Amino acid sequence: MEMSFLVILLRLCFQILALPVYLLWFLGIWDPICKKAFPYFMVFFSVHYNSKMSAKKKELFNNLSDFASPSGALTILEIGTGTGTNFQFYPTGSKVICTDPNPNFRKFLDKNLSENPQVKLERCIVTAAEDLHQIPDASVDVVVCTLVLCSVKSIEGVLREVLRVLRRVLVPPLNIELTLITLTYLTE
Ligand SMILES: C[S@@+](CC[C@H](N)C(=O)[O-])C[C@H]1O[C@@H](n2cnc3c(N)ncnc32)[C@H](O)[C@@H]1O
Repeated sequence: MEMSFLVILLRLCFQILALPVYLLWFLGIWDPICKKAFPYFMVFFSVHYNSKMSAKKKELFNNLSDFASPSGALTILEIGTGTGTNFQFYPTGSKVICTDPNPNFRKFLDKNLSENPQVKLERCIVTAAEDLHQIPDASVDVVVCTLVLCSVKSIEGVLREVLRVLRRVLVPPLNIELTLITLTYLTE
């Protein structure tokens, strides 16, 4: 009896605390607030994340130049670019096409571009990675995607678009899981 009373009390407390969020969501304001606030969180988070992942990212992005087109130009499409935290790992002369469905990242992206003059912005497109129709078939050398696939609505849709826009598809021996996923989609 005491236990169930406690459960009801805790549930009530939680509902009262969550009431402002429900209200904002009901009024259609919650989503825009999150979209505005998220870039600020990512700026803070990226500093800590990159300090832990810097060595791994350096290793992963180390051979990006090997994927350059025969003319020597390297066009990178980054999906879910966010603040552009990966620009620091891109080689000199890279041209980058940024895509993200959240336009509120733009000022942070511009800051990262000005801090990384070795990277030139080719285009910035506000779109989800499931729909990259503004990017022609076989037009980019590399697609970069970090911490994004957990947010997308359709991983399959994203991978299909990635395969469409890549100039040539190589399966790097990064890790077995990634290789298997890529091969599964390639052979479908
Ligand atoms: C956790 S952040 C990662 C940002 C950046 N890639 C990084 O490594 O710091 C997730 C990013 O994915 C974006 N995103 C969410 N849904 C997406 C979708 N369907 N297609 C592309 N990007 C998406 C978000 O707007 C956000 O910028």
